[in-house]
Amino acid sequence: MRSILNVSDLNFKEINRIISLDYQNNFLNGKNIGLIFEKPSTRTRLSFSVGINQLGGNFIDIKFNELNLSRDESFEDTFRALNCYLDGLIYRTTNHNNLIEAKKFFDKPIINALSDKSHPCQAISDLLTLKEHFNTFDLNILWMGDMNNVCFSLVEAAYLIDEINLVICTPEAISKNTQWVTASNILIINNIKDIDLKSINCVMTDVFVSMNDKDGEEKVSLLQSYSVNNDLMSKTAFNSIFMHCLPAKVGYEVTEEVLRGPKSIVWKQAYNRMVAQKKLLQFIYQ
Ligand code: CP
Ligand code: NVA
Repeated sequence: MRSILNVSDLNFKEINRIISLDYQNNFLNGKNIGLIFEKPSTRTRLSFSVGINQLGGNFIDIKFNELNLSRDESFEDTFRALNCYLDGLIYRTTNHNNLIEAKKFFDKPIINALSDKSHPCQAISDLLTLKEHFNTFDLNILWMGDMNNVCFSLVEAAYLIDEINLVICTPEAISKNTQWVTASNILIINNIKDIDLKSINCVMTDVFVSMNDKDGEEKVSLLQSYSVNNDLMSKTAFNSIFMHCLPAKVGYEVTEEVLRGPKSIVWKQAYNRMVAQKKLLQFIYQ
């Protein structure tokens, strides 16, 4: 049974298998899966909780602050104890290394529910949404804004799926400090004028300031001209879409008109988080 800490824990064939899996309703019968969220969550927590219920399993919402970890029990002993009871863990953490450490002491599947480094569940779900919408991965995707955890997982997905052409448009101050995997289908630019927007099928963005960011004010000022607005969307392909993992900070990374406009498929995206989560659980536990 597999843990999914990053998109790169999967290969292209497995991603396709997950996306096309038909889950069975009682598949998780008798399975107890713990949810640990060190940071806030609406979609990931709820879509996993309801998804596990729908698959006939039990989810246990483990309040991070109520664990004896908060009274100095070691990380090792905490995860060894969880290992005695649970069949799996869905874990959102402020520090990606916690996932790697937890894996040493918890020998059943761990799913990264977002870390400072990556958000694989969001990427898998967004691939499902793109495939449903366009029926192909042969797409030109423009990521606008910060090179954050959601962007990192998208880059990892593009690295595995070479049909995807991904352009990341971000300030130089951000791109020059970010060393990620590169490939011929992944391009980083600092100025939107450097690409032909007419070929863009999908524009994606995320908040300027992520939950983990300490340099919030600096990011907002760096990124203010990287907002997705109607002017930008109107220059993209006639059938282009707008995607955002949510939560959105309207007026910053996206305008109200785009977020609620006809090209936006953000609620399809949010709904698909639960569909994708169930497919992922079926893939892991089958
Ligand atoms: N997109 C996403 O992961 O949302 P939540 O932070 O609400 O879980
Ligand atoms: N990049 C955002 C994603 C939230 C789902 C964050 O980490 O806060």
